[in-house]
Amino acid sequence: MIVQIEQVTPADKSKLLQWRNSVEVSEWMYTNHVISEAEHSAWFEQMLNNEATKYWKIVVDSAPVGAVMLSEINSVEQTCSWAIYLGESSARGLGVAQAACLLSLNFAFDALNLRLVRCEAIAQNTRAIGLYEQVGFVSKPTDAEFVQRGESNLAIVKLELSDSAWKSGKDALHQILDEKGVSLDGR
Ligand SMILES: CC(C)(COP(=O)(O)OP(=O)(O)OC[C@H]1O[C@@H](n2cnc3c(N)ncnc32)[C@H](O)[C@@H]1OP(=O)(O)O)[C@@H](O)C(=O)NCCC(=O)NCCS
Repeated sequence: MIVQIEQVTPADKSKLLQWRNSVEVSEWMYTNHVISEAEHSAWFEQMLNNEATKYWKIVVDSAPVGAVMLSEINSVEQTCSWAIYLGESSARGLGVAQAACLLSLNFAFDALNLRLVRCEAIAQNTRAIGLYEQVGFVSKPTDAEFVQRGESNLAIVKLELSDSAWKSGKDALHQILDEKGVSLDGR
């Protein structure tokens, strides 16, 4: 299995909306209403034109299966935010997410020369948080934080990955990918 990340183009717009509106993805997002075509178009347009954002589709053996992104890229502070989802459920549990972590985080730390990457998750999302900790993110010791979603008040976890933690931990990630039979293509 070969995993690549490729910059999103206008041709990916409808696929991103389909994934983002699927229950398997939206249940873990801070908003989970059904996103309309108009709302998606406005978001997509600004995302493509936002220089502080890098948005890739995750491609497995030529098939798009999900997305991974950097946002709020700040070259002065050398920081950014990071997020991931696999829109195709069939791509989960195979090492695809770990491969996309490697490719996107290498870009953040090597190509962009950042020193800190931040991410967040709903606290109940143990699968995502387990992945983030596996690649080296650590939870920030802050007071409990919550996000209001409809009737629910959801606890959230904030995590950070430093460049030194990334550089010392990523060999282990390569090893995991080798064991899962996953190859990387970092074009
Ligand atoms: C989060 C997501 C990207 C993870 O990808 P995945 O392919 O499902 O992840 P995996 O099952 O391969 O797990 C990756 C690692 O996370 C850890 N992990 C998985 N499930 C876990 C759990 N229930 N508890 C703790 N750690 C867990 C393990 O370390 C695992 O690695 P291993 O299989 O080598 O042991 C994917 O499930 C997804 O897109 N979910 C829906 C959207 C979403 O939640 N996005 C994140 C929003 S913050």
